[in-house]
This record gives sequence, structure tokens and C-alpha cells, in this order.
Amino acid sequence: MNAAITGIGGFVPEYILTNKELSTMVDTSDEWIMTRIGIKERRILKGEGLGTSDMGTEAVKQLLKKTNTKPEEIDLLICTTVTPDMQFPATANIICDKVGIKDAFSFDMNAGCSGFLFGMSTAAKFIQSGQYKKVVLVGADKMSAIVDYTDRSVSPIFGDGAGAVMFEPTNENVGILDEMLHVDGAGRKHLHQKAGGSVKPASHKTVDAREHFIYQEGQQVFKAAVKGMADISVDMMKKHNLSSEDITWLIPHQANMRIISATAKRMNLPPEKVMINIERFGNTTDATLPLLLWEWEKQLKKGDKLIFATFGAGFTWGAIYLKWAYEN
Ligand code: UT7
Repeated sequence: MNAAITGIGGFVPEYILTNKELSTMVDTSDEWIMTRIGIKERRILKGEGLGTSDMGTEAVKQLLKKTNTKPEEIDLLICTTVTPDMQFPATANIICDKVGIKDAFSFDMNAGCSGFLFGMSTAAKFIQSGQYKKVVLVGADKMSAIVDYTDRSVSPIFGDGAGAVMFEPTNENVGILDEMLHVDGAGRKHLHQKAGGSVKPASHKTVDAREHFIYQEGQQVFKAAVKGMADISVDMMKKHNLSSEDITWLIPHQANMRIISATAKRMNLPPEKVMINIERFGNTTDATLPLLLWEWEKQLKKGDKLIFATFGAGFTWGAIYLKWAYEN
């Protein structure tokens, strides 16, 4: 039995933070950000008391509406996020409550920017076991909650958003066909959040030292990301004897346009076969892959061969080979 994606929902907040506005907050320019990263603007969730679950809830509500599914039909909801509403309980539980999903179990996963990819693998296993029929996977992040808007090396990169997909069983030759997932915990020194966890609980000192924001050594992460994403994508192609003509779409994590281009080049794929929304949304971490599917859904055809590829904090990286299951 295969696990197929059978629907998509998405949500991005209304507020647009442009490079022009960002240039009034830190010493940067549209030219630098476009040349070095490839981002023009990103969405920011504004409003007191609003968090990741609110965006995830909107995405799931849309998914249920589009797929004509009642909340009580859902067996399991998994939320992948690095910006949970709170340390506990899981944001997945909060989304279930806000959507009205009462007969399911739910939990969060954190795999940095590979969260949604690792989540796809996990959701598929619950379907393939034969025990569950409808699994919702949500990727949602309010990155603006952990971005230091006085740090020019990090603030241009990230944006907020959420996406959700439904996984269901199928006997057809569609859905997830293969996966390659990796971690290297030693990479954590280059990308992490210093305080707020059990090693360094929040204190006046950690707040004063701005340790509740993203810490990133950009160049180290960049080098590892280019190698990690390109190698794994090429490995997946080789394993399945796929040429660049065979692949319909590359769906890459959106951290830096230069990383995406390097991966596509190694795969020998023309730009027309690469889903890209980094210019408008930036890096939405767990939401990037489902937001790409959300925007490209109408162009996807049954049987299309898709390669998903990611790299993120951890370090985590991987690729999934999936055959699309439906047309709109
Ligand atoms: O999704 C999670 C995984 N994350 C990633 O994949 C991110 C990977 N890293 C990157 O995308 C890039 O390393 C960054 C976009 C973070 C930085 O770009 P870079 O080309 O590696 O720049 P850099 O850090 O080497 O900095 C080059 C120069 C420095 O100035 P000096 O020392 O040469 O005078 C920086 O201070 O650019 C300066 N700089 C900026 N200038 C204008 C750094 N940020 C900015 C900025 N505006 N926003």
C-alpha cells in the first residue's frame, strides 16, 4: 500500500515586509538581499496573541474544505515546526482544538528546515501500516517570533506561513516511492537558538544577550546546504535511474536562491522545472514545501514525478521521490 497526498491547504499572513522596509530597520539593501539570497519580500504574522497554530489552523481548515473532509474523519495530525506556540503542549494539539478535530491523536516534530520532509516520511508510515486512513501533516512557522530584527545577517531570510496536506492510502503506483533522510547533530553549533531550552532556561541575562533569537553562521550552513541538498537529490535520481527529462518538478527548500540553483544545476534541471517562491515568501522553514505545493497545485498532473529536497538546522537533510496522485 502506498501513501499519497490527496489535498493541500495553505496560509500566508497579509502583512508584507519588503526589503525597502527592512532597510530602515538594519543596515542592508534590496540589491544585497536580492543578489546574495534572492528574497524581495516576506510575510509577517502581526497581532497580539497570534502564533504558529493560528496559521496552521487556517491551512488545515482550507484543506478540509477543499477535500470535503469532516474534522471527525481525521485519524492523526502531525505538526512540524521550530516555533511552537509554547514549549508544551504540542502545537498539533492546539490546531486540533481550534479546527474541531476531536477523534484524532496528534503530536509535533522538529527537524529544522527538513521538518516537513521528515514529517512526510512519518505520516506515510502511519498510512502504510494500514492502521490509519486520513493523516494531516501541517508545516507551520512564525519565524518572525525568533528573528532578531537588529541582526542584518539573519533578518532578511525568514518569513511566516503554514501549509497542510492530507495523506491517504492507495493501491495505485502513486504517492511516496522512496526517501533518503539524514542528520548530523554536530552541525548544531552553526545554527541554533541559544536559550529557552533546558540547558539555558530563560533569564534576564539571556534576554539581554539576545539569546532567544536564531544564531546562524551563514557561510558554514551555506556550504553544508549546497552539498547536502545537491548530493542527496542526485543520489535519488541515480537510485531510480531518473534522468532530468523524467523529473517533472524539483520541490526544494527555499533558504537561498543560490542553494536552489546549485541543486538544480547538479541535477541538470532547467529553471522551468523548479518550484520557487523564495522571492515572495522568503524561508518559511516548515511551511516552504507545502506552500510550494499549494501554489503549484493546479499545474500538477497525476503521475508527475516530483523530487523534494531539503537542508536545515540539526543538521538535517534529505530527499523524497513522490508520484503525484490527482489532478485538479
Ligand atoms: O534554512 C536553514 C538553513 N539556512 C541556510 O541555508 C542559510 C545558508 N546561508 C546563507 O544563505 C548565506 O550564508 C547568508 C545569506 C546567510 C549570508 O550570505 P553570504 O553571502 O554568506 O554573506 P556573508 O555572511 O559571507 O557576509 C558577506 C558580507 C559581510 O561583510 P564583510 O565582512 O565582507 O564586510 C557581511 O557583514 O556581507 C555582509 N552582510 C550584509 N550586507 C548587507 C551580511 N548580511 C548583510 C545584509 N546586508 N543583510
